[in-house]
Amino acid sequence: MDLAGKRIVLGLTGGVACYKAAELTRGLSKAGASVQVVMTRAATHFITPVTMQALSGRTVYTDQWDDRIANNMPHIDLTRDADAIVIAPCSTDFMFKLAHGACDDLLSTLCVARPITVPLMVAPAMNVEMWQNPATQRNAAQLRADGIALLGPDAGEQACGETGMGRMLEPEQLLEEIIASFQSKALAGKRVLLTAGPTFEPIDPVRGITNLSSGKMGYAIARAAREAGAEVTLVSGPTALETPYGVHRINVQTAQQMHDVVLSRAAGNDIFIAVAAVADWRVANASEQKLKKTGAGDVPQLEFAQNPDILAAVAALPDKPYCVGFAAESEKLLEYGEEKRRRKGIPLLVGNIGHQTFGKDENELVLFDDAGHQRLPRADKRTLGRVLVGEIARRLG
Ligand code: CTP
Repeated sequence: MDLAGKRIVLGLTGGVACYKAAELTRGLSKAGASVQVVMTRAATHFITPVTMQALSGRTVYTDQWDDRIANNMPHIDLTRDADAIVIAPCSTDFMFKLAHGACDDLLSTLCVARPITVPLMVAPAMNVEMWQNPATQRNAAQLRADGIALLGPDAGEQACGETGMGRMLEPEQLLEEIIASFQSKALAGKRVLLTAGPTFEPIDPVRGITNLSSGKMGYAIARAAREAGAEVTLVSGPTALETPYGVHRINVQTAQQMHDVVLSRAAGNDIFIAVAAVADWRVANASEQKLKKTGAGDVPQLEFAQNPDILAAVAALPDKPYCVGFAAESEKLLEYGEEKRRRKGIPLLVGNIGHQTFGKDENELVLFDDAGHQRLPRADKRTLGRVLVGEIARRLG
């Protein structure tokens, strides 16, 4: 679980988006965190402490003078063993308070009283005009300058009926941001380009040739690279997966399209990771119209042409990024893996141990580089994505 053992203080301030905090609490708990909810008086007008208590499984605090805390100092007690404080939703007024160090209720006081090592994240939620107001923007700039992370806001339809910037991020997006905040920032400032998923090579408008790649490994690496602080572009063949939060995704179908998109964007990236299961061949005589059976025993005569090797093309660029390839072999992985790494001219190749990995949630990998090969312990693809990103960052120095 991504947040196993983490203690999160979740602060709610006044806003319609309080209903999303209920879902966030469930998400945090499911990810293994313990959640201590603290609410301002305004927040209790939007959602009851009873609901938040039921969802978090803990007493909810709303009052600085709550005598259930033995020493009567909840602002100290609630923050000393916290791993992070998250304010979601964070109102315009509460941003003002944070920017000025106000201490006139329990939540603002505990934010000021937190040890400086406890990260504070805020998810603004307000009307578009309130967000754009110069005073709010000054406060936002002050929060950033003080090392407080602003999660969002997003643009879109608002509860008041207006449209624009100021919507709170969705609970699952906030969860991704909170999980990411606990990961090492080994790729901060780096740009990463990836391919993932299968390709689809048309035979005619309704038929084609593809493979069993689900895209899970590539998407997990894209997510891990983003968590590690990189700006990530994912060029993806057809998959049923959701785009990892914060990742820029470009959809393609064929190997040729994937090649063209990758080559037009490769320059300026620090790292290229080719995870896609690219079709080696395309149908050279694909039909523009649906092929029809003309008689009993009739079969179409398909001709094949070789697709460009995307990884090899990127690895041959004069200003090439650090290139990482993948290999799925049905036999002799150690021999073929190293041979493939040399043939493609890349510093790192990742071999799938066993070629039955397609669609599974777990995987076992072996890394090939100039120093030889190294097996990574079997793990779920999310974990492996993070391990792999760590290995790449270490090699980049
Ligand atoms: N790859 C690519 N473009 C292709 C074929 C493969 O970018 N046209 C990349 C894959 O994304 C992977 C690596 O090259 O990172 C190896 O892919 P694989 O299919 O195992 O190797 P091939 O070069 O196709 O060799 P073979 O199929 O003969 O084993």
